[in-house]
Amino acid sequence: MQKRNFEHLFKFARDLTVDAGEQIRTSFQKEITVDFKENRSDLVTNMDKQIERFFIKNIQKSYPDHRILGEEGFGDKITSLDGTIWIIDPIDGTMNFVHMQRHFAISVAIYHNGEGIIGLIYDVAQKDLYYAVKGQGAFLNDRKLPALGSIDVGDAVIGVNSAWVFEKKRIKEGIIPHLINNLRGTRSFGSAAIELAYTASGKIDGYISLRLSPWDYAAGKILIEEVGGKISTINGDPLTILTKQSPVFAAKPGLHESILKNFLIK
Ligand code: IPD
Ligand code: CA
Ligand code: CA
Ligand code: CA
Repeated sequence: MQKRNFEHLFKFARDLTVDAGEQIRTSFQKEITVDFKENRSDLVTNMDKQIERFFIKNIQKSYPDHRILGEEGFGDKITSLDGTIWIIDPIDGTMNFVHMQRHFAISVAIYHNGEGIIGLIYDVAQKDLYYAVKGQGAFLNDRKLPALGSIDVGDAVIGVNSAWVFEKKRIKEGIIPHLINNLRGTRSFGSAAIELAYTASGKIDGYISLRLSPWDYAAGKILIEEVGGKISTINGDPLTILTKQSPVFAAKPGLHESILKNFLIK
């Protein structure tokens, strides 16, 4: 795909995302339907479904050859990275949406032949749009985000959630508490997409999560890489959007290498 086509596609994706955000804000005044998926922490609402369907309908109308991977399953079965693929989380942080009506985001990524070319994360309640187009930098609303610099572990604030406390399989016991003891602090916002957007914009210095699906991190990965940040599995391996769930670690350059070497890979 040509660079100039990215621009057209970006505007289309941005307009859909902003429109979807407006639909979600309107729902704040209405009753929503909340269901459980696998357990009582795994929520889905009528709005998660409505927004995913809204994207799919509009993308299919304008770009019938594009394929779509969406959390709620209304899109396509993706088994190869050929062509143009949209990866959509219609509401990332559904629990926050249900309980607080804030701190949730729409996450939209567009990949072309396996390469991330456009990423958008829209913090709907805040009306903050984080976005990046490959090779053109990352932005928060109209402001270009500066390249990320390094920082010492002892000065770093990292997004971590409590799931790590109970984790025994993915990482040796004690490793995450040891890392946390050596950081300045941790934060837990309840939306992977927002935490990755915060990492890309330097509000926090990194984010580590046990189990993310491609739609949780696909847009954040594009944003973070566009400002020189690093994102990988917790072993430092590259992330692939064909993998159903991966442990994800993102951080400023330098800090990422240092945490991997001194804490995570032991
Ligand atoms: C969840 C959020 C949460 C993360 C979970 C995700 P959802 O996404 O990003 O912060 O810890 O792993 O599943 O289900 O609200 O879209
Ligand atoms: Ca979900
Ligand atoms: Ca999600
Ligand atoms: Ca979701």
